[in-house]
Amino acid sequence: MTVIDGEAVAAELRSELQSRVDELADAGERPTLATVLMSPDPASETYVEMKQQDCEELGIVTRDVELPTDAPGEELFTAIDELNADPEVDGVLVQAPVPDHVDYRRVVERIDPLKDVDAFHPENVGRLVAGYPRYKPCTPHGIQRLLAAAEVDPAGKHAVVVGRSRIVGRPMANLLVQKAAGGNATTTVCHSRTEDLASQTRQADILVAAAGVPELIDGAMLSPGVVVIDVGINRVEADTEKGYELVGDVEFESARETASAITPVPGGVGPMTRAMLLYNTVKATALQADVEIELP
Ligand code: GUN
Repeated sequence: MTVIDGEAVAAELRSELQSRVDELADAGERPTLATVLMSPDPASETYVEMKQQDCEELGIVTRDVELPTDAPGEELFTAIDELNADPEVDGVLVQAPVPDHVDYRRVVERIDPLKDVDAFHPENVGRLVAGYPRYKPCTPHGIQRLLAAAEVDPAGKHAVVVGRSRIVGRPMANLLVQKAAGGNATTTVCHSRTEDLASQTRQADILVAAAGVPELIDGAMLSPGVVVIDVGINRVEADTEKGYELVGDVEFESARETASAITPVPGGVGPMTRAMLLYNTVKATALQADVEIELP
């Protein structure tokens, strides 16, 4: 049984990306990511800081735009317009959630698709579904890379994705089913209305758990040899210093008895998601500067 080390795979990728940042610098291009924060969730500030720190470690320049949560939506749209128009800015990321009075869909549609490093814009979603992705969303792309690093080829396997979110479940299923490297899986998508979830998950050769429900899936719901990718990061009350602990969507201890490989929480998918944002930012720079680099 292998515990897939997301930190190690992410570190390797970051080091590869570092050399691409250097190549771009030699060509006179400094990759620049703008983060926009207008979130009512206090945790968002920490997430944005982590993303900025990841960038700075690689020499990616960051721009920090912060708006008060009670600012009118138009201020956010104007900020996005300015970043879209700024030739020095390669990527624009508006941290979700945004306050209730702002329509998140309009926010996503406002970002220049070439600067959409989250890959949430309908143009980028459409390209992915149509089979000619520009940017891939960070979490499912990171999972594809993790599977490759663990030498798990989805081709011909039965992949079961639990969760149908716009950011993880649906793009994950799209990537797994595609006729392309890292795809070619027979793919099932399960969700909150799936009847008899266990009968579906037991058919999985590869299980991606992205439901956001703590320990939804246990070892009894898996078949021997399954590769388990756990996307869940759930805070549950615990007798620890912080008063909580992080658990995945999979009950790790029972699942590891049955699985051939499993990602831990934390230290599995999370670090890969962060690394893929760097990947998309480097790609965004190369695309817009029209500099040819070979991405890792
Ligand atoms: N909020 C939580 N996850 C994400 C993400 O991947 N991108 C953005 N923009 N906001 C988020």
